[in-house]
Amino acid sequence: MADTPHIPDETETRAKWGAFAWTKANAKTAAMYVARYPAGRQQSAVMALLDLAQRQVGDNTKTQGWLPVPVIEYVAAYLGMPYMRAYEVATFYTMYNLAPVGRFHVQVCGTTPCMLRGSDDVMAACKNRGLVKGGTTPDGLFTLTEVECLGACANAPMVQINDDNFEDLTYDSMSTLLEALANDEPVKIGPQIDRQVSCPEGGPTTLKEMVSANRDYRGDW
Ligand code: FES
Repeated sequence: MADTPHIPDETETRAKWGAFAWTKANAKTAAMYVARYPAGRQQSAVMALLDLAQRQVGDNTKTQGWLPVPVIEYVAAYLGMPYMRAYEVATFYTMYNLAPVGRFHVQVCGTTPCMLRGSDDVMAACKNRGLVKGGTTPDGLFTLTEVECLGACANAPMVQINDDNFEDLTYDSMSTLLEALANDEPVKIGPQIDRQVSCPEGGPTTLKEMVSANRDYRGDW
């Protein structure tokens, strides 16, 4: 289960975010998202607009962003829908943060395939670096969340950090990854072992002669 976020005090939140409005650039983007839907169906843009709002909060706070209540209210009002309908969407999907997060939001998949392939080791690497589930490190760098399947089970165990996946992790590769992020060093996105996306480790295991050119195997069968 994803951890229950600690939502900040409402008075404080309203004081900081009560005057939220799109930036000039995001106002254009929001209008573009809304225009994708037929007349009368503009509320269908709620997911894209909540994401856009979260990113704007992120730009403002130099973090991955979150959705304070006044920001959700703003999006709901922008789309002419009841606040509760937008809140339902924001609370349903873990892609929306209901509490502030750090610069790197580390989402560790703990569902069965990742668990069987070593997500406990990935979590241990996080803990060893001071990350605590459901919390943000004192330096504001990392927020750790355990999430359900992120759809990359073939490359288990994996984590999503901000908008990128990091896969085929071990305790060591996860530790190296966190260290590199903390030091602003370049990191390798995707599989952390020798494989292309979800192809077999080390290269193809079947139809090998088709790696570099087309080959008709039908005569062999
Ligand atoms: S179980 Fe971890 S990505 Fe599916």
